[in-house]
Amino acid sequence: MNNSGAALRHHKKPIISPLRYPGGKASLYPRLRAIVRANNLTSGTYVEPYAGGAGAALGLLVTGQVRRVVINDLDPAIYAFWKAVVDDPMAMADRIKKVNLTVSEWSKQKEAYLSAPREDYLTLGFATFFLNRTNRSGVLNAGPIGGVDQTGKYKIDARFNRETLIERMRLISLHSKRITVLNSDGMSVIKRYSKRDDTLVYADPPYFEKAGSLYLNSFDDTRHASLARCLNEVSDSLWVLTYDNVPRVTELYEARRREVFSLNYSAHRVTKADEIMVFSDSLTVA
Ligand SMILES: C[S@@+](CC[C@H](N)C(=O)[O-])C[C@H]1O[C@@H](n2cnc3c(N)ncnc32)[C@H](O)[C@@H]1O
Repeated sequence: MNNSGAALRHHKKPIISPLRYPGGKASLYPRLRAIVRANNLTSGTYVEPYAGGAGAALGLLVTGQVRRVVINDLDPAIYAFWKAVVDDPMAMADRIKKVNLTVSEWSKQKEAYLSAPREDYLTLGFATFFLNRTNRSGVLNAGPIGGVDQTGKYKIDARFNRETLIERMRLISLHSKRITVLNSDGMSVIKRYSKRDDTLVYADPPYFEKAGSLYLNSFDDTRHASLARCLNEVSDSLWVLTYDNVPRVTELYEARRREVFSLNYSAHRVTKADEIMVFSDSLTVA
């Protein structure tokens, strides 16, 4: 069986995103799928205004749970990556096949990441992807796995399985006509899409406590509060929000239904409910 088959066989969590994302939400796929079905949105659109690795979006699209997905990220590098994947997946696949997995290539890609023009999607998008797959924890401003001297236990190629990554590109390319990629502020995307009744918005903004070191764009309290105003204003539309479970979230979304959960839930291990999900009033929660 090829890799896309293997990815899809795992009905509970299809792994399709080519990006590694700290705190990625691919594991929310079963929950979001249930919500899509309960709200009769299988012919509709699913929108991630803070997409990052877009793991849940791609899972829902490729398994036919929704008709269209919108992937938005304000970070120009993440946007360039998605734009390149959707517009020119074969060029990305070709680069994945041929790129050297060495520290000197890593330095070149780092340079491209820092200096490629925003509109050169292929160069900037591939550099972003390369660093995401070869850096420690996928963090774009970290160093390479194994260190610059490559003396660590794992080496720079530890997370770069060419075949698997090319398969993921191919799988996405089969569905690319149904993917819209945007580079706007998340709130403008929420305002634009929340008016539609066949659309589910899933917002996963930078968190209160974990975000700073992980993402280029972290939020301050004013931004968290404006996002809350924006979402609370459209509580009659269909949206889900996730955050780290801090008291401020309960304050900002006091009037909304909320549920704490753990991303690392395991049947054999008691884990702390360290995340929180907030629901719009009109949503049927499943
Ligand atoms: C918590 S991550 C999302 C993780 C994602 N759900 C996943 O599964 O991979 C937040 C993302 O929001 C993006 N971001 C930060 N500020 C933004 C803004 N104002 N508008 C849109 N995206 C933003 C960051 O670049 C980052 O990729």
